[in-house]
Amino acid sequence: MILFEILYVSRCRHRFDDASLTELLRIARRNNHAHDITGLLLYDGRGTFIQVLEGPQQAVEPLYERISGDNRHDHVHVLSRQSIKRRSFPEWQMGFYLMTSELIRKVDGFSDFLFSDTNQNIDNQEQAFALRMLDYFRLKARREQEDSSC
Ligand SMILES: Cc1cc2nc3c(=O)[nH]c(=O)nc-3n(C[C@H](O)[C@H](O)[C@H](O)COP(=O)(O)O)c2cc1C
Repeated sequence: MILFEILYVSRCRHRFDDASLTELLRIARRNNHAHDITGLLLYDGRGTFIQVLEGPQQAVEPLYERISGDNRHDHVHVLSRQSIKRRSFPEWQMGFYLMTSELIRKVDGFSDFLFSDTNQNIDNQEQAFALRMLDYFRLKARREQEDSSC
């Protein structure tokens, strides 16, 4: 079995309210549990999603295809797609965090990436930002695991 990870960013077409996010996560976690998928979903509260999907390649690829065709978001852009040795979020059927400006400052020093509509070089910035976010949550998940095992 090949363990696989896909990281993408997307833009939601309409702002998600609490109820629609809760419903999205309920379905996602139920399906992911059934297919041995784990991962992380980040939402900035207005327009941007960052998601990591990890699990068996034969489950991750079709799930990504389904998600990328979901008309609740568009501009779905894969930042990385690779086999991995181990999961970053083994405990999270689909972890979810709101990227508040406070969190962004904590992770990123100061980033206006999400709040600017006129960025040149958007792809590079987007990728760098998503990767920093991901690193932050990988570390957080690892710490939580270590804490719960002692
Ligand atoms: C940003 C975003 C992230 C999603 N993440 C997942 C996910 O991790 N797992 C999942 O099964 N569906 C996810 N979905 C929902 C799927 O696109 C699709 O609606 C759902 O899998 C259909 O499930 P159902 O056939 O059981 O109704 C996501 C949708 C969006 C817009």
